Amino acid sequence: MSEPPSFEVVATRSGARAMLDRRTGEVMHPLGGPSEEARSLYVRPSRIEQRLDAGESEPLVLLDVGLGAGSNAAAAWCVSEARVASRRQLHIISFDRTFAALELALSPDHREAFGLQGTVLVASSQLIERGRTEGVGTVWRASLGELPSTLRAEPSASADIVYWDPFSPRANPTLWNAVTFTALRRACRDGATVHTYSGATATRTALLLAGFAVGFGDVLTSGRQATVAATRVDDLERPLDRRWLERLSRSSAPFPEDAPAGGFERIAGMPQFQ
Ligand SMILES: C[S@@+](CC[C@H](N)C(=O)[O-])C[C@H]1O[C@@H](n2cnc3c(N)ncnc32)[C@H](O)[C@@H]1O
Repeated sequence: MSEPPSFEVVATRSGARAMLDRRTGEVMHPLGGPSEEARSLYVRPSRIEQRLDAGESEPLVLLDVGLGAGSNAAAAWCVSEARVASRRQLHIISFDRTFAALELALSPDHREAFGLQGTVLVASSQLIERGRTEGVGTVWRASLGELPSTLRAEPSASADIVYWDPFSPRANPTLWNAVTFTALRRACRDGATVHTYSGATATRTALLLAGFAVGFGDVLTSGRQATVAATRVDDLERPLDRRWLERLSRSSAPFPEDAPAGGFERIAGMPQFQ
């Protein structure tokens, strides 16, 4: 007997459609709907438009960690393809173990709700068929397999922007620890920024221990606050500060499970807290 499909399209409280993963019980983009959340949580804060206009000749490289229904990558694709004057290419590398959620999102009933229309509709179908697709100013490639191994296969110092959007630390603990973020830091080049919905203290300490500077992201509609990390503290609008460090000393879940002994002292000694 074939297994039942693991993804299902559901309606969120706001009325928007979203993708449910039956195995973990987690919903992708549960707050404002896939397209709006992709723009507000990932595309706008990562300043893709400005970075594409920066006049550099090297492509801007985006690691889309957790392709899912493709909403984050699709939103980035649309920004890049709308910029006819921009000569800087955007390279998107999407990581996932399966195309199943994207395939469901591409079905005629759902594609509009998931922001998959126009050139990105064609591109998403080609990505599934060939593992790679190209637009006027954008190259989009899939890295299909298990994270974090697929991440380790990327060249070091190659990424400029990372959308870190796997399931939560409860469902995906190994994707939020210091070892995995160290692999991510290796893939990032100087000036890179990392954007994630998680504002958990242990996510932030894992990123710090991996060698990133870490800051507060925007406040989400749930009231929780996202996180932005960067290779340079100067690229953060709101770096974590000494008040955050005080709260860390009182936190009930301060560190990922693989934090080294003396983690607090190591973090307290980092330049961003001096
Ligand atoms: C929250 S969803 C991503 C949503 C997506 N960014 C979007 O815009 O629709 C998380 C995705 O991570 C993938 N994932 C979770 N753990 C993984 C692992 N260990 N290796 C590869 N993919 C994984 C899941 O299959 C799922 O599609």
